Order: sequence, then structure tokens, then C-alpha cells
Amino acid sequence: MIGFARAGDRLVCDGIPLSAIAEQEGTPLYVYSAAALRARYRAIDTAFGAYPHALHYALKANSTLAIARLMRELGSAADANSIWEIELARKAGFAPADIVFTGVGKSRAELECAVPLGLKAINVESAGELSRIESIAERLGRVARVAIRINPDIDAQSHPHISTGLKINKFGVARDTARELIETLGPDGRRSALKLVAVHVHVGSQITTLDPLRRAAGFLADLAADLQRGGLALEYVDLGGGLGISYDGGDVPDDDAYAAALIEEVRATGLPIVVEPGRTIAGPAGVLLARVIDIKPRDAEGDFAILDAGMTELMRPSLYNAYHRIEPVDGASRATRRYEIVGPVCESSDVVGRDRTLPELHVGDVVAIRDVGAYGSAMASNYNRRPMPAEVLVDDGRWRVIRRRQTLEDMLALEQP
Ligand code: LLP
Repeated sequence: MIGFARAGDRLVCDGIPLSAIAEQEGTPLYVYSAAALRARYRAIDTAFGAYPHALHYALKANSTLAIARLMRELGSAADANSIWEIELARKAGFAPADIVFTGVGKSRAELECAVPLGLKAINVESAGELSRIESIAERLGRVARVAIRINPDIDAQSHPHISTGLKINKFGVARDTARELIETLGPDGRRSALKLVAVHVHVGSQITTLDPLRRAAGFLADLAADLQRGGLALEYVDLGGGLGISYDGGDVPDDDAYAAALIEEVRATGLPIVVEPGRTIAGPAGVLLARVIDIKPRDAEGDFAILDAGMTELMRPSLYNAYHRIEPVDGASRATRRYEIVGPVCESSDVVGRDRTLPELHVGDVVAIRDVGAYGSAMASNYNRRPMPAEVLVDDGRWRVIRRRQTLEDMLALEQP
């Protein structure tokens, strides 16, 4: 059994009881399954079959060095959203030619560093950014490979905070001005310091139906075909992030249906497909272990269970009202009770799970917050001077700490009295 599963009363990760890991490494603690990461990557890769494609793992989901390195070892390419993610990717072994640089606000300093690297593409978000890249490339005597990100005005039907493909969103070049911008590059997509290699869409994250992804792919394929007819030699189309995952057991399309839909839309262009999946690879492969610090009465029906992890370790519930399954790692057969599961931070929004029915909890119990491998540790903060949690990777029947717990000294190393 790969990843997280119940063995009798206990929750295990690739066969190792999570209670044993928590006992030794302490809490709050992120635990990842290497086997689950590999299985997810391979399943998506296999789903595209013989159709030319490249998976660019979205580092923003989880860029802990050992995780990035594992993705590289699997043969993944990378999507980096800042110059720091690019540097991290290079430390993890990704070659510049395997990195796409995405992001709505790339600073002058970031572009100055990125242009000379020879990345696979810088995904351009505006006319202004294109001309800034050009002036840097000209000065350095380089040709920057660029992809234009187009905002297709398609509703991703996801949470408004993570939907990016509507006209009102800040992302990409508006669909009605994209042609005009591309034409400024000349009939073959080249100026002396720029080469247009692809067009790109990303309409949002945690998309759980194929329709918006299919429509975005269809839109981009039509545009690419049109550009090809005009004589432009594109190298690929970049279709953005991957599928959403099932946080609550609800249906999500499978990898085969996803890949088939994208291929069907793009095939007529003959162009390879690039995708930038993050959540669907890393999400299910991680849990956050937390210990119950206190239990106190809430109302006639239930109690507050206060954990040693909250919005500082996992921001998703507070920020998006996101649902994550929560379960005790041991003692799953106890009688149930209702809990408002909250963190230790001084904010009422610091709720990890609202109104949950769980096996009875006691102070000192360890619970697992599920499906937090993506956008979990990557979004953690030091609010309340809480240290970044430790992270552990389980691989081949053993575990190792891949990021040690931060200390106050680590934080203060940056400060002057
Ligand atoms: N490509 C681009 C240009 C993106 O902006 C994103 C995610 C991805 C790829 C990866 O998308 P994925 O395959 O993971 O859906 N913090 C939020 C998610 C923000 C996603 C931002 N962009 C959350 O916790 O739900």
C-alpha cells in the first residue's frame, strides 16, 4: 500500500506508523511519502503516453530541496515562479533548459539574473514585461526564449482566490490584445534579442472538472494553429497547472481522462504539450502531524481541540476555507465526538477543521491533517514567532529529516538588536 493508509487502528506511511515518527521527530511535522510522489508523477507521465509532452513540476507547491531533487530524479522538468525558485531548481539538479519561469510580477533584478541563464522559456505576462526582457537580452547580447501567457477569460470554477483565467484577474495578456502583441514579434516570432517559442494558459488551481481545462487547451490550440498558418514555428504549447485533488472524497477526473482531453484539443497542431502540475503530484503525498495541546468545552455538542499546528504551519483552511481530512494517527476505533479543531495562533480564523466528528481526542494525541503535501509547508510563516516545522521523507521503509525544525536562533540570525 503506497502512501498513507490505516493498518488496523494505526495510520501508517508506506508501512511505518506515523505515531513512531511523531514520537521521535516531534510535532508539528510534515511527513511525505517518496513512493506516493513517484507514483503520482509516473501516473501523469504515463497518461500522456506516446504523445510528446513534458511535465514541469510546479515548485511553488513544494520546493523543499529533497522533494525537488526527487522530482528531478524522476525525469521531471520544473516550473519556477521566482528567481529564488530558479536557483533552488538548479541546486536540485534541474538544467536551465528544463525550467520555465512563470509569475505575474518578475522584478527587474529577477529578469537580469534569469535572461542570461538560457531557460526553456520566460512566460511573459504583459507587453511591458516583454520589452523589459528584450532590453536586458539586447544589452547582454542574448536571445531570450519567451512564451506569451494569455488570459483566455475562462472560468475555472475553483475558489476565487486561486482562479486566474478571467478577464478580471491580474494574470496574462488579455485575449483580445494577445494577437497584436505577438505580431510585434514579426512573422517568424523573432526579434534580434527575442524568440517566441510557445503560447501559455493557466486558468487556475484545484480545478476538479475537465471542462475549463479542455476549453483553455482548445482556445490555446486554436491560437497556436492560427499562428502556425501565419508561418510561426512554435515549439510547444504550455497548458499550465494540473488537475485538482479530492480533499473530501468527492470525484475528480482521472489522469487518463485529463491527458486524453488535452491531447484531443492540441493534436491537430502537432505541438508537444507542456503542463505544470503541482498539487496533483505533491498534495496527496504529505500529511501534517500535530499534537493535541488542550481540549475545552465549546457548546452542548462538542469541544474545542487545540493543536500545536495552525495557520502558521498550514494556511489553506484560514485563507481559502479549505477542507482537509483530520484523523487521529492511533485510536481510530474510539467512540466519536464533535470538535472544532483549531490552532494555537491568536486569530479566530486559525481554524484547521470546522465542526468535525472524530474518535474521541485526549491531550497528547497526535492527529494527521491529510493531503497537505502541496501548498502546506511552502506557505508556512513565522507569525507569533512560531518556527517553521520540521519535514520528514519516508522512503524505502526508512525516514529521514529533509528539513530540520527552525529555531529562534535561526530567525534571529537575520536581525540586529
Ligand atoms: N502554473 C502556474 C502558472 C501557476 O500559477 C500554478 C499555481 C501552477 C502552474 C500549479 O498549479 P497546480 O497544478 O498546483 O494546480 N496556494 C493555493 C494554490 C495557488 C496556486 C498558484 N498557482 C492553494 O493552496 O490552494
